[in-house]
Amino acid sequence: MAHIIVVGNEKGGSGKSTTSMHVATALVRMGHSVGAMDLDLRQRSFGRYIENRQAFATRDGLDLAMPDYRPIAEGEAPLDERFSDAIRPIDGCEFVLIDCPGSHTRLSQLAHSLADTLITPLNDSFVDFDLLARIDPMTNKVKGPSIYSEMVWAARQARAEAGLQPIDWIVTRNRLGTQAMHNKRKVGDALDTLAKRIGFRVAPGFSERVIFRELFPRGLTLLDLRDIGVSSLNLSNVAARQELRDLMRTLDLPGVSVDF
Ligand SMILES: Nc1ncnc2c1ncn2[C@@H]1O[C@H](COP(=O)(O)OP(=O)(O)O)[C@@H](O)[C@H]1O
Ligand SMILES: [Mg+2]
Repeated sequence: MAHIIVVGNEKGGSGKSTTSMHVATALVRMGHSVGAMDLDLRQRSFGRYIENRQAFATRDGLDLAMPDYRPIAEGEAPLDERFSDAIRPIDGCEFVLIDCPGSHTRLSQLAHSLADTLITPLNDSFVDFDLLARIDPMTNKVKGPSIYSEMVWAARQARAEAGLQPIDWIVTRNRLGTQAMHNKRKVGDALDTLAKRIGFRVAPGFSERVIFRELFPRGLTLLDLRDIGVSSLNLSNVAARQELRDLMRTLDLPGVSVDF
């Protein structure tokens, strides 16, 4: 059985698809077999990313490591059935990476209950934090979990009842800026407090960088730059690579020793 990595957060634009693509690429580049699913049936950013990658590699005759992407079929059959049909052929991969939509859907809930590792990217803002927990406006103290955390809690319950391993939940901060240090620290402190209360680990995360988005049309990530003839990385790209390396190390996935 594959180790299932779910990337979820019921909020659009928090970096789920960007994180999915980078984690999947890092794993395939390190020689692991990776199946991929995109449950955002409307936007399909992750699926399109991989399709772009395939098309670019074919066009330029490049031998790029590729996740095995399995789209959810369209049609009249029940969603659960279409989900099972998509995941079955990739169940023998070492990893299956599932990107979720930025809203609560039946498929997203199902995926969360299958997660061995759950990655939740979070923009560095209390607006995004609000999906994880409610904060007292006067003291900044955590008052209690909110909708998304409760959904994860329900998924954890379901797994415990089925006798499965608990979910290893990692919250990773995204689009960290060099400005707004005060906000950054406050969000960081709140996350550290919440991490203990509701049971997740905090990853250092990605800064706001063009490299995380500019390669989408070709389906590439910064790890592929050498393959397209970029011989030396600029400082920002070197730092981005370090951020991805740190995330991969924090994930601590079975059988993976991070070397890139
Ligand atoms: N660290 C980052 N630096 C710069 N742009 C980013 C970063 N993370 C995400 N983006 C951009 O933000 C937008 C939303 O990201 P995306 O991964 O599609 O989020 P989600 O899948 O959660 O909706 C996209 O335009 C993406 O390219
Ligand atoms: Mg997305």
